Amino acid sequence: MKNDIHNLFVDELQDMLSAENQIVQALPEYVKAAESSDLKDAFNHHLQETKNQVQRLEKIFKMLKIQPQGETCEAMEGLIKEAKEVLSNYSVSPVRDAAMISKAQRIEHYEISAYGTLRTFAKELDYGDIADLLKESENEEANADKKLTKIAEGGLLTSGINRKANKSSR
Ligand SMILES: [Fe+2]
Repeated sequence: MKNDIHNLFVDELQDMLSAENQIVQALPEYVKAAESSDLKDAFNHHLQETKNQVQRLEKIFKMLKIQPQGETCEAMEGLIKEAKEVLSNYSVSPVRDAAMISKAQRIEHYEISAYGTLRTFAKELDYGDIADLLKESENEEANADKKLTKIAEGGLLTSGINRKANKSSR
């Protein structure tokens, strides 16, 4: 049984590396599937950011002189599985875009929370440079989340999505 914060920090970093790698694999499908061009752009932009986030985590492992062990983040596996189900359960429509935003924001919130905790642990361990790198990724996740809210509230949900949905179910 482990009981030191350094181990905990490294375990959570491994989890995050797995989570980010899974997102890099999954996001292209969302880029392709989005109907709204704003949403497509947002997913594409975040795909590039996520690739950088993987590199940032790999850099952190190098700074710690630790080899990542290839753990799998099972929580992210579940979130991505649900996110993919949306693509087969709904036809291309603003409603499906809204469903994709809903799933993507759950993923962002998972990441915001994970990076926030990692940053706190890094500070506790006096890894100031690592805390700064983690903050960069956390900010990107927060911005991606805000952008998705803006797309949903700024157009998608005000463009008659509910009216259209009601009509087609009648
Ligand atoms: Fe990320």
